[in-house]
Amino acid sequence: MDFFPLLRPALSLIEPERAHRLTIIGLKTGFGPRDRAPDPVSLNVDLFGLQFGNPLGIAAGFDKNGEVPDAMLAMGMGFAEVGTVTPRPQPGNPRPRVFRLADQGAVINRLGFNNQGHAALLRRLEARRHRGGIVGVNIGANKDASDRIADYEVGIRTFEGLASYFTVNISSPNTPGLRALQGREELEALLTRVLKARKGSVPILLKIAPDLTAADRADIAAVMLDLNLDGLIVSNTTIEREGLVTGPYAHEAGGLSGRPLFPLSTAVLADMYRLTGGKVPIVGVGGISSGADAYAKIRNGASLIQLYSALTYEGPALVTRIKRELAEALKRDGFARVSDVVGVDVNG
Ligand code: FNR
Repeated sequence: MDFFPLLRPALSLIEPERAHRLTIIGLKTGFGPRDRAPDPVSLNVDLFGLQFGNPLGIAAGFDKNGEVPDAMLAMGMGFAEVGTVTPRPQPGNPRPRVFRLADQGAVINRLGFNNQGHAALLRRLEARRHRGGIVGVNIGANKDASDRIADYEVGIRTFEGLASYFTVNISSPNTPGLRALQGREELEALLTRVLKARKGSVPILLKIAPDLTAADRADIAAVMLDLNLDGLIVSNTTIEREGLVTGPYAHEAGGLSGRPLFPLSTAVLADMYRLTGGKVPIVGVGGISSGADAYAKIRNGASLIQLYSALTYEGPALVTRIKRELAEALKRDGFARVSDVVGVDVNG
């Protein structure tokens, strides 16, 4: 992670997880990079009853414990998603568990939901509750949970009132069996209980994998529409490698993110947009590293976008650049607002 340009060459040589930790520590000082320019009106997005200055957010996994959401907002992000957080703290998988494929703009991780648990995140979110800004909470289940669905219910109950929105993450490839919750019956059971745990109307989004069959995708769309869930996040990392990456780390177990994930995650995004008839807002994530990528996600059905991997290679100047390029693309094509282009490339 190279948020501090002078340190970039050094951080890129340090073991990725350590570099990431140093970045978080740096951002916690409050002296992180700032983008003070107000977002152009063309980038403003009104969705879920929330006013996003711009559609670009930091994806889950960067700030698992909610240590730096305000630093990410100050950097120019339109929103920050913290987590994945599980009820009890857990260490995750043995190291090494994060691999850089720098020449391909990719990352492979098998962290396995290492996080400090609900109580630690709750404390931090309570401490910042009056600061404003859109901060979503991404919730998961402990690896050894006897009732995984109960872990999601506790997540909703614990953070409702502090979370601008929730992400129900059932798409990490690194918790054995978790992705099975994407199957139709399991998903219905999960979402029914999650929706019941909610007292008010905080938006609840479902984050899905890019590695789903056409039948899985159709089932998920049907359940979303049936239960009136608020939105989708497409997608998490892929377990696919074939034709996507090469080199010594290509076959490390875990989820692949970054540039090679772009075509796959964008195809799944477009398919989910089509299957839900454009009625379910979708956050497009996977392989975004330029304004053109961001624009393509939106044209393929994304109302909001997130990124993570590209930031580790390019640093925070990327946020400013993507926003500028996106605003230019909208203007060039004669669109006044982001919402005017959502899904325009998706047929039927
Ligand atoms: C992730 N991602 C992730 N997603 C999630 O829902 N919960 C998590 O805890 C994590 N953890 C995580 C760690 C690391 C090191 C990476 C690289 C990614 C997935 C992330 O939010 C995103 O969906 C993918 O990385 C695709 O976006 P990018 O990275 O290609 O922009």
